[in-house]
Amino acid sequence: MSLCAFVAPLYFLGVNVLGGVHILGGVNVAFPQNASAHEQVFLRWTHFIAGTTWLGLLYFFLLVNTPFLKELESGTRAKVYATLMPRAMWWFRWASVVTWLAGFRYFQILLKEEAFNAGRPMLMLHSLLIWLGVWLVAYFLIHGMLMGSAGPLGNGWLLGVLVAVVVSGAAWLVLSFLAGHEASNRTLSIAVGGGLGTIMFLNVWGMVWRCQKKLIAWNRALAEHGTPMPPEAATLARRAYLASRMNFWLSFPLLFFMAAASHYPFLSGK
Ligand code: HEM
Repeated sequence: MSLCAFVAPLYFLGVNVLGGVHILGGVNVAFPQNASAHEQVFLRWTHFIAGTTWLGLLYFFLLVNTPFLKELESGTRAKVYATLMPRAMWWFRWASVVTWLAGFRYFQILLKEEAFNAGRPMLMLHSLLIWLGVWLVAYFLIHGMLMGSAGPLGNGWLLGVLVAVVVSGAAWLVLSFLAGHEASNRTLSIAVGGGLGTIMFLNVWGMVWRCQKKLIAWNRALAEHGTPMPPEAATLARRAYLASRMNFWLSFPLLFFMAAASHYPFLSGK
C-alpha cells in the first residue's frame, strides 16, 4: 500500500498527519516532537504487552493448568502436556525476555536523567551495576535454595520465608545505595519492583525452563512410545512448581512497585 493510500483516510478523519497539531473530532492531537518521548512510549507499551503475556501465562499455569493436569489419567496427561507445554512455554519465556529488556532500558533512561540532573553522569553506570549485582547475588541464593528443594527446603513455607528474607535484604541494599543519591520515588520504586522482576526472569530461564525442557521430552516419550518417566521427573516437577509459585507471589509486590513508581510517591532519597 502506498503512503498516500495510508494517509488519505486519516485526512478524512480530520487527522493532519504531516502537521504538528492535529484535530480528531474536536480533540487536539499533538504528538511529542522528540525522539526520546517516542522511544519511552514504545518501551512502556512493549513492556505492558509482554508483561501481560508473561504474567497471564504464569497465572494460567498456577491457577488453572496444574490442578487441571492432576485430574487427568496419566496417558492423557502426558499427551496434553507434550502438546500444550512447548507452545505455552515458548510464549512464556520469550515474553519474559521482552518484558525485562524493555523495563531495563526504561530504567536506564530514568537513571540517566537523574544522574544528569545531579551533575554526575557516571552515577547511572554505578547505580545500574550495583542494582544488577545485588539482585544477581539474591538470585544465586534463591537458585541454591531451589536446588536443595529435594531436602527440607522442599517445604514451601520454609522456602517462602527464606526467599522473603533474601529479597527484603536485596531491596534494602539497593534502596540504601540509591537513597544516598537523591533518587526519586520513580527510580526507588523500580529499583525494588524491577529487582523482583529480575529474580522472576532468571527463575524462568534458570529453573522453570531447564526443568520443563526435560519434563516435556519425557512426557512426549511416554505419550508416543510408552517410555516410563525417569525417577528424577518428580524432583524436577517439584522444583519447577516451587519456582513458578515463587514467581506468582513475587508478582504481587512487583506490580505494586511498578504501579507506585509514577502514581504513588512514598519513597524519596536524602
Ligand atoms: C513481570 C515483570 C514486570 C511487569 C509485569 C511489569 C509491569 C509494569 C507496569 C504495569 C508498569 C506501568 C506502571 C504505571 O505506569 O503505572 C511498569 C512500568 C515500568 N517498569 Fe515494569 N514490569 C515488570 C518488570 C520490570 C523490570 C524487570 C524492570 C526493570 C529492570 C521494569 C521497569 C519498569 C519501568 C522503568 C517502568 C516505568 C515506570 C514509570 O514510568 O514511572 N519492569 N512495569
